[in-house]
Amino acid sequence: MKVAVIFGTRPEAIKLAPIIKELEKNGFLDVTVISTGQHKEMLEPILEWFEISPDYDLELMKPNQTLSSLSALCIERLEVVLNKISPDLLITQGDTTTAFISSLVAFYNKIKVAHVEAGLRTYNNLSPWPEEVNRNLISKIADFHFAPTDNNKNNLLQENVTKEKVFVTGNTVIDALLFSAEKVTKENIYPEELEAFFTGGLKEKKLVLITGHRRENFGKGFIGISEAIRALANSNPNVYFIYPLHLNPNVQETVREYLSDLENVKLIKPLGYPEFISAMKRSTLILTDSGGVQEEGPGLGKPILVMRDNTERPEALKHGTVKLVGTNKSNIINAVQELLSNKEIYDKMANAVNPYGDGTAAKQIVSILQEKKNLV
Ligand code: UD1
Ligand code: UDP
Repeated sequence: MKVAVIFGTRPEAIKLAPIIKELEKNGFLDVTVISTGQHKEMLEPILEWFEISPDYDLELMKPNQTLSSLSALCIERLEVVLNKISPDLLITQGDTTTAFISSLVAFYNKIKVAHVEAGLRTYNNLSPWPEEVNRNLISKIADFHFAPTDNNKNNLLQENVTKEKVFVTGNTVIDALLFSAEKVTKENIYPEELEAFFTGGLKEKKLVLITGHRRENFGKGFIGISEAIRALANSNPNVYFIYPLHLNPNVQETVREYLSDLENVKLIKPLGYPEFISAMKRSTLILTDSGGVQEEGPGLGKPILVMRDNTERPEALKHGTVKLVGTNKSNIINAVQELLSNKEIYDKMANAVNPYGDGTAAKQIVSILQEKKNLV
């Protein structure tokens, strides 16, 4: 059976790396790795860390690309590659433009699709945008649905996806995290920009780690987030706010405008994956709108405040280690301030729980694909 694995952005590469490694180890399947290059600088350190060199790179990224132009280019370039390699199966992950468009091109070319991280839903097409619609459409196309949790599986069954095609495996992000966190500790990896927080004069300081990039938060949302961080930094001069800025210009412009001049706010470039894990471990709490960070943070025992109004990842919410705070300035300020000053509330949230898997998701997925290869 010929298999193609495709990714384009940072989180897809992180979450597909364990599957690529497992397929390589297995040696049974004929594997081609395709990068659409939807991301460029943010993808490179991930590929380096996991030692993955794509067989094809579609080099799609353009500065401030629109979803339509990115999609059009992806359709055109991917079809050429798929025709050349004629895979029996395309493995795609998540809910990005790369994930949806590659599933569509596979479908048009009668190539079966395996969807990793299937069944996540908010039931709000505008949040996250465009990801909620992307993942719904992939579910209409896919032949194998690898759902991280029972809740994700139930969402798919409610949409009449055939039961036999849905497999609960956990999320491969935990495979990637466990593999990487062990190396981070062993090799004492930390971001060079944060050296003072690990070995220097700022070792005892509290550190709030921030990430944010959701398109539905552009404009008003990012202004609320930036104003909140500014106010918190001013009223907590002993706390440091570390923000590895996503390279999307819509994020960069607003955040830099509001936060560049503060002594205790560090705006830094996106971190490599091990460096980011190290920063998460060192942090007191994490403020984010990221999907992946919502899955990784709870396993590290860090309170996660999610700057969104809803989440497709209710599992950690249920355990109380994740809380939704939206993008409203005063809601963010109150939630962060509470965690910084109330030990009881902090300790309640800082429990290590891991509802997203045990680190064997990739193994399970590859063995299911082998077992069921007659269906392809
Ligand atoms: C994309 C995904 C989102 C995912 C996120 C992960 C879509 C529609 N969005 O959002 O689901 O959560 O990636 O980070 O698929 N840029 C660079 N260098 C890079 C990467 C991005 O300069 O390495 C800049 C470019 O100007 C690019 C812009 O960011 O045009 C937007 O990138 P894009 O992949 O379209 O959207 P993201 O906001 O990154
Ligand atoms: N991440 C990283 N460097 C950073 C910020 C995040 O390697 O500076 C990792 C993080 O550990 C997680 C993934 O990137 O695994 C999340 O990516 P992102 O937030 O861009 O996308 P999402 O998960 O929201 O789709």
